[in-house]
Amino acid sequence: MLSKTVLTAASLLASQVSAVLMHNGVAATPQMGWDNWNAFGCDVSEDLLLGTANRMVELGLRDAGYYYIVLDDCWSTGRYPNGTLMPDFTKFPNGMAHVAGQIHALGLGFGMYSDAGRYTCGQYAGSLGYEQLDANTFAEWGVDYLKYDNCYNEGQSGTANISYARYDRMSQALNATGRQILYSMCNWGQDHPWDWAYSIANSWRATGDIYDSFDRPDVRCPCSEEQGFDCAFPGFHCSVMNIINKVVWFIHRSQPGGWNDLDMLEIGNGGQTDDEYKIHMTMWAALKSPLIMGTDIRSLDANAYSIYTNPAILALSQDPAGASAQRRWRYYVPSTDMYGGGEIQLWAGNLAQGDYVVILLNAANEALMLNATLADVFLDQGGAISTQAKSNWDVFDLWASRMPNATADAILTANSTVAALNGTSYLYNATAQSYAEGIANNDTLLMGTRVGTWQAGAQSTWSAMVPRHGVMAYRLRPQGAPTVSKRDEL
Ligand SMILES: *[C@@H]1O[C@H](CO)[C@@H](O)[C@H](O)[C@H]1NC(C)=O
Ligand SMILES: *[C@@H]1O[C@H](CO)[C@@H](O)[C@H](O)[C@H]1NC(C)=O
Ligand SMILES: *[C@@H]1O[C@H](CO)[C@@H](O)[C@H](O)[C@H]1NC(C)=O
Ligand SMILES: *[C@@H]1O[C@H](CO)[C@@H](O)[C@H](O)[C@H]1NC(C)=O
Ligand SMILES: *[C@@H]1O[C@H](CO)[C@@H](O)[C@H](O)[C@H]1NC(C)=O
Ligand SMILES: *[C@@H]1O[C@H](CO)[C@@H](O)[C@H](O)[C@H]1NC(C)=O
Ligand SMILES: *[C@@H]1O[C@H](CO)[C@@H](O)[C@H](O)[C@H]1NC(C)=O
Ligand SMILES: *[C@@H]1O[C@H](CO)[C@@H](O)[C@H](O)[C@H]1NC(C)=O
Ligand SMILES: *[C@@H]1O[C@H](CO)[C@@H](O)[C@H](O)[C@H]1NC(C)=O
Repeated sequence: MLSKTVLTAASLLASQVSAVLMHNGVAATPQMGWDNWNAFGCDVSEDLLLGTANRMVELGLRDAGYYYIVLDDCWSTGRYPNGTLMPDFTKFPNGMAHVAGQIHALGLGFGMYSDAGRYTCGQYAGSLGYEQLDANTFAEWGVDYLKYDNCYNEGQSGTANISYARYDRMSQALNATGRQILYSMCNWGQDHPWDWAYSIANSWRATGDIYDSFDRPDVRCPCSEEQGFDCAFPGFHCSVMNIINKVVWFIHRSQPGGWNDLDMLEIGNGGQTDDEYKIHMTMWAALKSPLIMGTDIRSLDANAYSIYTNPAILALSQDPAGASAQRRWRYYVPSTDMYGGGEIQLWAGNLAQGDYVVILLNAANEALMLNATLADVFLDQGGAISTQAKSNWDVFDLWASRMPNATADAILTANSTVAALNGTSYLYNATAQSYAEGIANNDTLLMGTRVGTWQAGAQSTWSAMVPRHGVMAYRLRPQGAPTVSKRDEL
C-alpha cells in the first residue's frame, strides 16, 4: 500500500500523480473557477456568463487559476421531441455551443449543470434515465465540467451501492463521449461518497449547501457535527464553521483526481467580516476543496478581490502533494464576558518539498493568543519523537503579503492588472508558471512573508495573537535538508 510506505515528498508526488490519478486524468489539484448559484440563483443568462468570463480575464483571475465558468441550474426549458435537452432561448439566445465557444476563446473552461434525478433542484428536466443522451449533448456543446446534483432522485439513495450506481451511470456516459469532462458530484455527502466516488468522479460534495454565515446555526442544516459522516438529511443553510467541523472525520480521503467539495465560496457576498472570509478562504484551500467563486465578479470589492487572489493561500490549494490539512486539536475557551468564549483549533498538514502548513483558527468571540507546539504540528509524523520536531523551521506568514486595498481598487477600476500593479507584484500568474513550478522555484509570492524561526524541540511553541473570528496561516520550511515525509492514511 502506498500509504503504508515511507516516501520522500518528491517520490510520493511522482507515484501519486502518475500511478493513482483517477480515470479521466483531470483535477490533479482541486478545480478552481466560478459558479453563478450563490450570487444569482436561477437568474442566469448568456450576458451573465460572458460578462463574468471577460471580467475574470481582465482582473487576472483566470491567470490566478480560476479556470472554469460554471452555469448552474435553471438554464433549460425541457426536452425536444427527440429527447435532447433544450436550452432556454430567452436566456441563451445563441444556444450553449456559442457560450462554450466564447468562453473557450477567452482561455477558460465551460461548466454545465444537471441532476441525477427526474428533475433538477429548480424543477427543470433532470438527467436520470437520459445519462448518455445528455452527456453526448454536453460534449457536443463543448462542455468541460459537469456539476451533477441530487434532487428528485426517486429514492435512489440510502446505501452506498444505490448512490454509486446512479452516479456511475453519468460517469460512464461522460467517459463514452470521449471528451475530457471534469465530473463534480453534488450529492451532499449522502451515503459516504468519500468511500466510493474517487473512482468515478473528480469531486463530491461532502455536506449540505453552504450559506453566507460564519457560524450561525440553522435548523435547515440539521445534522450535528458528529453526524457529519453519517448525515441522511444534509439540508442547506450550513455555515462555514458547521462545514469545517463536519468534514474533519473524512477530510483525509481527498487525493489528486478526487476531492471533498466543501461547496462554493461566499467571499464577497456580504454576510461575513473580512476576517471571517479569510478563514473561509484559508480552510477551503488547505482542506483541498474545489475553489469555486460564488460572487458577482462584475462588482467585486477590493477586500474580496485580495482574498480570492492571495497567491500564498492559493499555493496551499494547488500544492502538488494534494494532501489535506488535518485538525490537530480543538478546545473551547470560556467566556470572559457575555460576548466572549468559543472554540479554537489547530490544523496542520504536509505540502510538497517537505514543507508543512500550520493554521491557528480562532472562532471565539474575542482576540486570543493561540499556541502550537511542534509535537502537535507533527503528530502524524510521530509527534514528539518525529525527525520534524528535531528540526528548526523557517516560518512564512501566508496573509502578511496580502494585496493592499489601494492596489486592489486600482486594478478593479482600471481593468488593467499590469498598469495598476505598476511594477509591484501581488498577483500570481499560473498561466506563465504553474503552481507546481512556482513552488519548486521558491516563488516569493507563493511562499508568503518570512516572519521568524520555529526552534527545534517537541514542546517548542509558536504563539500568535489571532483576531476574533480570525486566522493565522503559515508555511513551515525546514532549515536544512527536507525531512522524510509520508502521506496520511487514506
Ligand atoms: C475513459 O476511461 C478510460 C478507462 O478508465 C480512460 O483510460 C480514458 O482516459 C477515459 N476517457 C475519458 C475521455 O475520460
Ligand atoms: C500571464 O501570463 C501570460 C503568459 O505569459 C500572459 O499572456 C498574461 O497576460 C499574463 N496575465 C497577467 C494578468 O499579467
Ligand atoms: C434533437 O432535436 C434538436 C432540435 O431539432 C436537435 O438540435 C438535436 O441535434 C436533436 N438531437 C439528436 C440526438 O438528434
Ligand atoms: C448493488 O447494486 C447493484 C445494481 O447496481 C445490484 O445488482 C446489487 O444487487 C446491489 N448489491 C447489494 C448488496 O445491494
Ligand atoms: C498561549 O500562551 C500564552 C502565554 O503562555 C497564554 O497567556 C495564553 O493564554 C495561551 N493561549 C491559550 C488559548 O491557552
Ligand atoms: C480595506 O478596506 C476596507 C473598507 O473598505 C477595510 O475594512 C479593510 O480593513 C481594508 N483592508 C485592508 C487589508 O487594508
Ligand atoms: C472597467 O470594467 C467595468 C466593468 O466591465 C466597466 O464598468 C468600467 O467602465 C471599466 N473601466 C475602465 C476604466 O475601462
Ligand atoms: C508607479 O510607480 C512609480 C515608482 O515605483 C511611481 O513614480 C509612479 O508614480 C507610479 N505610477 C502610478 C500610476 O501609480
Ligand atoms: C528552494 O529552497 C530550498 C530550501 O530553501 C532549496 O533547497 C532549493 O534549492 C531552492 N530551490 C530553488 C530552485 O531555488
